[in-house]
Amino acid sequence: MRKMKKYCYGFCVLSSIIINILFAIYLYLGGRGSGGGSTGGGECALSWSEKAAAEAEAVAAISCSDHGRAYLDGSTNSEGRPVCECYACYVGSDCSQLSRGCAADANSGDPIFLEPFWMQHATNSAILVSGLHRMSYRYNDNLYMSVELENHIRKLHSIVGNAITKDRYIVFGIGSSQLLNAAVYALSSRNSSSPSNVLASIPFYSMYKAQTVLFNSKNFRFGGDTKAWQLNNSTNNMDVVEFVTSPNNPDGELKNSVLGGKTIYDHAYYWPHFTPIPAPSDHDLMIFTLSKLTGHAGARFGWAVIKDKDVYEKILTYIVVADLGISKDTQLRVLKLLKVALEEDGKPFFKFAYNKMKDRWDTLTSIFSKSTRFSIQHIHPLHCNFFNQTRLPSPAYAWVMPRFSSSGHLADLVQSSTLLAPPLFCSPPLQSFSEPPCPPPHHCRLINISKGERERAIDA
Ligand SMILES: Cc1ncc(COP(=O)(O)O)c(C=O)c1O
Repeated sequence: MRKMKKYCYGFCVLSSIIINILFAIYLYLGGRGSGGGSTGGGECALSWSEKAAAEAEAVAAISCSDHGRAYLDGSTNSEGRPVCECYACYVGSDCSQLSRGCAADANSGDPIFLEPFWMQHATNSAILVSGLHRMSYRYNDNLYMSVELENHIRKLHSIVGNAITKDRYIVFGIGSSQLLNAAVYALSSRNSSSPSNVLASIPFYSMYKAQTVLFNSKNFRFGGDTKAWQLNNSTNNMDVVEFVTSPNNPDGELKNSVLGGKTIYDHAYYWPHFTPIPAPSDHDLMIFTLSKLTGHAGARFGWAVIKDKDVYEKILTYIVVADLGISKDTQLRVLKLLKVALEEDGKPFFKFAYNKMKDRWDTLTSIFSKSTRFSIQHIHPLHCNFFNQTRLPSPAYAWVMPRFSSSGHLADLVQSSTLLAPPLFCSPPLQSFSEPPCPPPHHCRLINISKGERERAIDA
């Protein structure tokens, strides 16, 4: 019996030693393998990032009643501490008070609707930028663009199935806005005696005209609406650059070129949350933006997918001469965001975004179906290769049209409501989308309601 006890004792001591050795090995390897992700669980201790991480978490933890947010680079109090910046319609030190008679801005294209997704994915999407991060103008391989980010963009298009990127060049821009004009510059003629005409089909995104007029080049000028142009000009020898916005802002339609010449496909909204994706786009020059994909308009990041080498080189020259490339901090952040969006082949991200847009569309449809004075655009189902089902689009904007009555009545009605949307086409000084003046009131399209706002603005 005593012998038995002795063996038992020995066995226990030996097991304990083995377990301790294994545990020590586990801690040692676990700490090294984590890459220093956190201080807990035996992983390697943080050094320079700890203070920044604590600062970022502290400011994110400031309570603004879900109606505002405090930022590290935002407003501060008299002691220099960050304070809440309240969303539209909310006031007070913690943004808890609803301001009376507040108008929701239905005319802004700010895509904040994905904020809840990024709140849920705060851990995976956070980045920490040290003071030493990529101080050079260039990456190691002498490029202005991160190759890793470019590869992720190609992967994204291949998973979503919305654009062919194989054997295509990619150029990054400061938002797609910068690339829109870079593309006009690249496609417009240099040798012709008269400037190329930049055209778009009414109703079109106002920036095309604004940029073309502002940059006032001898190589291009704004020529207006494609159909009007076609009526007044011979289709031979046309020196035109046509913007094709698909899906279109403001009416959400999937568009094709009218003139069939040099085209810039603006695919800002060609993502599964706004439209079914029937096929990958394969045009010579396509422009995309992070703003409408993940909602990070503030990051200012867009990209062009280009077939022709000469056009690619011209666009790249424009970006380099205008800005010496794109912020490396932005590229790091975009890479992180895309990695999250690509998790599980993009299914959770696009499902979330689609459901949000669909719910908002359903709400608007139900409101406008009861109206005897206004209607919104009709939408049609299509097969979406990404979701592998036939479904309706959920456009970024509602394109509101009067059913009848005079435009004067409608303008009054909009201004007295809680929507801060100017009557765009009935009042030339406020015009934002190009549309002919609207003498027959039945054809006068009125307002463009952005569905990308925060929940409260949409409720209003
Ligand atoms: C059709 C279209 N293209 C481009 C842009 C500009 O996007 P970014 O934020 O990338 O400059 C917008 C913004 O509203 C848009 O509606």
